[in-house]
Amino acid sequence: MNGHYKFTAIILYIKQSFVYKTLQGGWIMGWIAVCQIDDVQEDEPKAVDVGETKIGIFKIENQIYAIENVCPHAYALLSEGFVEGETVECPLHEAVFNVTTGALESGPGCRDLCTYPVKVDGASILIQAQ
Ligand code: FES
Repeated sequence: MNGHYKFTAIILYIKQSFVYKTLQGGWIMGWIAVCQIDDVQEDEPKAVDVGETKIGIFKIENQIYAIENVCPHAYALLSEGFVEGETVECPLHEAVFNVTTGALESGPGCRDLCTYPVKVDGASILIQAQ
C-alpha cells in the first residue's frame, strides 16, 4: 500500500469510527426520506447518502432494513455485494454481515455494522440518521 492510499484509508477509518460512535451515542435526529419503496428489490439494494454517511437500503422477505453501507474491512460498498437470505457478502473480500442486525457473521470485517431505524410511509422509505 503506497503512502497516499494508506493515508486515505486511515482518514476513512477515523471518519467511520466517528459516525459509528456518534450514531450509537444517541445523536440521532428526525426521520429522513431516502428513497421510494420501488427503488429497492430483494436482490438489488439501494445505496443512499445522508450527509456524508453512506447507507445501504435492503429488502429482506418484504421488510426494509438500513445498514452502514461501507465495509469496515477495506471500504467496499455492501450494496454492491451479494445478498443471500438475511446476509450480504462484501464484494471485495467476502466478509458476511447479517442485514437484519448488522452483525459480522464471517470473514475479515473487523466489527459489526451500524443499523438505522426504518419506516415506510406510503411509497417512501424513511430512516433515522444523524
Ligand atoms: S472490503 Fe469488505 S471484506 Fe474486505
